[in-house]
Amino acid sequence: MVKLFAEIAPLRYELKQYRPRQSIALVPTMGALHRGHLSLIERAREENEIVVVSIFVNPLQFGPNEDFQQYPRTLERDRDICDRAGVDVIFAPNAAEMLGDPNTSSEDTPPAPLRERTVVIPPQSMTRHLCGRSRVGHFQGVATIVTKLLDIVQPDRAYFGQKDAQQLAIVRRLVADLNLPVEIVGCPIVREASGLAMSSRNRYLTDEQKQEAAALYRSLCKARQIFRGGERSAAAIIATVKAELSAIEAIELEYCELVEPTTLKPLETIEESGLLAVAARVGPTRAIDNIMLHDR
Ligand code: PAJ
Repeated sequence: MVKLFAEIAPLRYELKQYRPRQSIALVPTMGALHRGHLSLIERAREENEIVVVSIFVNPLQFGPNEDFQQYPRTLERDRDICDRAGVDVIFAPNAAEMLGDPNTSSEDTPPAPLRERTVVIPPQSMTRHLCGRSRVGHFQGVATIVTKLLDIVQPDRAYFGQKDAQQLAIVRRLVADLNLPVEIVGCPIVREASGLAMSSRNRYLTDEQKQEAAALYRSLCKARQIFRGGERSAAAIIATVKAELSAIEAIELEYCELVEPTTLKPLETIEESGLLAVAARVGPTRAIDNIMLHDR
């Protein structure tokens, strides 16, 4: 049976028993688990003795007009999924445990408002483009919570999806910058049969909208086709994606950008490899997707 912890101290005590003989994996999530998350859990299960899944809907990474309130919270179901996948430990803290309770702080440490609890700031060059442009403060919130989770669990390896490519690049950078003793493992995007990248937010979509959203992946594949045909100009590759998506009325493109995969700096021409990423409004939600372009 998977063990569930809501508090940091008993979780640390539990994990102490395993260390250093057994390797510990961390899979950070916000819950509402789907096959995308499961692929990370399965990979972690294969490569480590102990698998910890964290489930925390992190208020620091949601903007004021985003879906923090509506975000699906399905702990019982997530627990069953983790149980069946052979997860050893779930860490599911509440906001006070994770970020400090404003009502119980002493006079020496006055309660900080939520926005002041964002304490890890990734380099601007990595947050200025792609999702960082419209989601101001988002990656600072992600970086803060991921750093805290890595410090609490102290895993040997932590697993992240390529689905959130900007997040993965920023996490790799912060682990290097802070000399955190953890290996970051990136995992491929898991898709529906239609090509739509799995996401907890797909729950907000009707079946028809899901079909329409699959055009995002189709447009990226089209771009990959012309890349394989020899096209190296960012402008031409981006134009292909935009042309493909402009035909779909239900998709309101937010951005399509081609960046260097590690630094996230915009490219004009692809030398070795490029990360081609899109974000769009589809009905009530915002969907993201990406594809890596490189010579095989
Ligand atoms: P969440 O959206 O729950 O995603 C948890 C992890 O699952 C992330 O690393 C994400 O990239 C990965 N993932 C989601 N959908 C995937 C898919 N279709 N294929 C492969 N991997 C997928 O990302 C977060 O939570 C949060 O920002 C978090 C890192 C937990 C910090 O709060």
